[in-house]
Amino acid sequence: MTLSIAVVGATGTVGREVLTILEERNFPSGTVTALASDRSVGSNVSYGDQDLIIQALSDYNFQGTDLVFFCAETSLAEKYIPRIVKSGATVIDKSSAFRLDPAVPLCVPEINRDLVKGGNKIVASPNCIVIPLAMALKPLSLIAPLKRVVVSTYQSVSGAGRQAMDELYRQTRAIFVNDGVVSNVFSKQIAYNVIPHIDNAMASGYSGEEEKIIFELKKVLSPELKVAITCVRVPVLIGHGMSVCVEFQKKISVEDAREAFEQSESLSLQDRPRDDLYVTPLECAGSDEVFISRLRQDTSVSHGLTFWAVADNLRKGAALNAVQIAETLVQKGHF
Ligand SMILES: NC(=O)c1ccc[n+]([C@@H]2O[C@H](COP(=O)([O-])OP(=O)(O)OC[C@H]3O[C@@H](n4cnc5c(N)ncnc54)[C@H](OP(=O)(O)O)[C@@H]3O)[C@@H](O)[C@H]2O)c1
Repeated sequence: MTLSIAVVGATGTVGREVLTILEERNFPSGTVTALASDRSVGSNVSYGDQDLIIQALSDYNFQGTDLVFFCAETSLAEKYIPRIVKSGATVIDKSSAFRLDPAVPLCVPEINRDLVKGGNKIVASPNCIVIPLAMALKPLSLIAPLKRVVVSTYQSVSGAGRQAMDELYRQTRAIFVNDGVVSNVFSKQIAYNVIPHIDNAMASGYSGEEEKIIFELKKVLSPELKVAITCVRVPVLIGHGMSVCVEFQKKISVEDAREAFEQSESLSLQDRPRDDLYVTPLECAGSDEVFISRLRQDTSVSHGLTFWAVADNLRKGAALNAVQIAETLVQKGHF
C-alpha cells in the first residue's frame, strides 16, 4: 500500500523536515505533493533525490489525497483544514488550530498512541516544548504522581520559522560589519540577546506560547497538573532547551528517575557526574531523542526533582512527531 501525500508549508522549516523524515523512514508514500503560498509556486524543494515543484495551496484540489501534513500557520489551518477533511483526506496538523478541540487527539506517540483511532480525520501534534517536556515527565509520573511543574525555556529561533532564522543570521552579520540592526520578526534584537516573550501578550499576563504549553501539557498528561512557565527566545538556530523543576505527590529518588529515563523510548539520559556530560542545543540538532541532563533532587520541596532537557524542535518537536503519528495511523489500518 502506498499513500498519496501532500505537505502544506513545504518550503518552511517544518515542512522541509517532514519531507526529509518521510524519506529517511521509508514512509509508504506514493505521490508526494508540495504546497505553499502563491509566492513560491514553481520553485523546488527536495524529497530524497527528487525535486518537487511547489504548487499553490489556495487552488489545490485535495480529492484523491490520503494524508496531509499541515505545516503552516494557525489561521491557514483554521481556514483550509475543514475543507481538506471534507474532500476525504486525513490531516496531521502542526499548527495550534485544533490542539485543544476535545474531539481531536493531541498525540505524542510514545505517550498516547492509543488515542489515535482509525476514524480520526484530524490528529494534532503538540507544541515543540510540550512534546519533549511531556516525554520527560510521563515516566516520572508512573512512579510518583505529578503535583506541580515549574519550567523555564530556552527556545531557538527556528521555532519561529524560516524568516526568524534569517533574522538571527542577518543581525549577527550586521553587528560584525558594523551595520544597523533591523528587527522584523522579533520585537527586539535577538542576536547577542535573549527575549523573555514568545507569541502575543495574553490578558492573563502569560504569553501566547506559555498559555499553549500550559493547556496542551494538561491535555496530554493530566488536567490536574499545575504548571508555571516562562518562555524565552535565545540566539540559537536549532534546539529547544528547558530547565524543569517537578514536585511530586510522593517520594521519588534520583535513582528511581534515572532508571525510568533509561528505560523510556526515545529518551537519552546523559548526566553521569562529569563536568561536561550534559547536552546542549547545538549537540542535539539533527537527533531524534529527547536528552536529559543535570538530574538532581530539588531540596526546596518535600518530593522534588530538577533537570535540564533539550530536543531538536524541528524533528521530535515537530516533523518527526508528525511522521510518527502518520506511522501510527498506517499501523492501525486507517488507510
Ligand atoms: N518551527 C518549529 O519548531 C515548529 C514546531 C512545532 C510547530 N510549528 C508550527 O508549524 C507550522 C509551520 O511552522 P514553520 O516554522 O515551518 O514556519 P515557516 O518556516 O515560516 O514556514 C511557513 C510555511 O507556510 C507557508 N505559507 C505561508 N503563507 C501561506 C499561504 N497563504 N498559503 C499557503 N502556504 C503558506 C510558507 O510558504 P511560502 O514559502 O510560500 O511563504 C511556508 O512553507 C506553524 O503553525 C508553527 O507554529 C513549528
